[in-house]
Amino acid sequence: MSIIILGIESSCDDTSAAIIKDNVLLSNVIANQNVHEQYGGVVPELASRAHQENIVPVVDAAIKQADISKNDISAIAFTRGPGLLGSLLVGTSFAKGFALAKNIPLIDVNHLQGHILVHFLDEKNQTNKKPEFPFLCLLISGGHSQIVFVKDYLQMDIIGETIDDAAGEAFDKCAKVMGLPYPGGPVIDKLAKQGDMFKFKFNKPRIKNYDYSFSGLKTSFLYFLRDQIKENKNFIDENKADLCASLQKTIVDILFDKLTKAAKDYNINEIAVSGGVSANSAVRNAMQYFAKKRGWNIYLPKFSYTTDNAAMIAITGYYKYLNKEFASQDIVPKARLKI
Ligand code: KG4
Ligand code: ZN
Repeated sequence: MSIIILGIESSCDDTSAAIIKDNVLLSNVIANQNVHEQYGGVVPELASRAHQENIVPVVDAAIKQADISKNDISAIAFTRGPGLLGSLLVGTSFAKGFALAKNIPLIDVNHLQGHILVHFLDEKNQTNKKPEFPFLCLLISGGHSQIVFVKDYLQMDIIGETIDDAAGEAFDKCAKVMGLPYPGGPVIDKLAKQGDMFKFKFNKPRIKNYDYSFSGLKTSFLYFLRDQIKENKNFIDENKADLCASLQKTIVDILFDKLTKAAKDYNINEIAVSGGVSANSAVRNAMQYFAKKRGWNIYLPKFSYTTDNAAMIAITGYYKYLNKEFASQDIVPKARLKI
């Protein structure tokens, strides 16, 4: 018999609900919160409130679009963490109430595992090529930058991670310095297409093993602009595309220096990328480049599954359901949660 999972994602500023039947996606509804744009970043209090407003309509829409009834749902999976506590509480409480009302299992999901397992999702008329175990996943988002050694669906080890800012944070913070809107990652990506990536050079950090650091880049970018603006107050406007292209190149070089090293040391050529920053065109080009150069089998998520979504929570819930890994009603969300 098929298993139908309702997935709920509310870790940051997107309220999302998805329905999957086994590993096939039936619906994935996302309500974005535009309220944060005017503040240049996510305001936690406003995010919690928006989740509270959105959660019921979003779940209703997901059930309708999937063309199922509430009674068909085998289990409900929700994001336990990591994320903003107030945001996580909304999804967690909703999931608990739904599980109780329908007398179905409750499944807690690690958001980061979700980003990785999204590679195992199929769509109704489309079966995707899936990574073979073990594989490496470069997980790059607004909150995380990690290289994960994935041994099985639910067995993963972080082999490298950022010691300060995440890659997405580097994009967003540098965009802010240039006066670009939030989130800055997609804006930089777009502007970079018209720019010269070799025009400006920024220092890369020297960090041990497979770990990352992006806070130094942000600071050197800021100081570089400050010095240039002293000479020419229109420096940013006159060089925007080149600044974006050069900055993007530096971030991607930093990411792939470590990823290629890990792939070589672990002797693995199954390589996936996920998280919000995996939408970046230079990241995708670099994956294609190394697929040719090093013979990697690469796995790039569809754009709609790069940023936060409940489809990834539902698919992770599905594998936990198969393992009978259920949560009890006294489970609490965690702002910090390791893979
Ligand atoms: O995975 P995600 O939606 O949320 C977290 O779990 O953090 O990632 C959001 C991050 C933001 O920092 C955003 O700027 C970045 O992903 N991002 C991009 C692009 N699209 C989204 N960064 C660079 N290029 C893009 N095209
Ligand atoms: Zn995320």
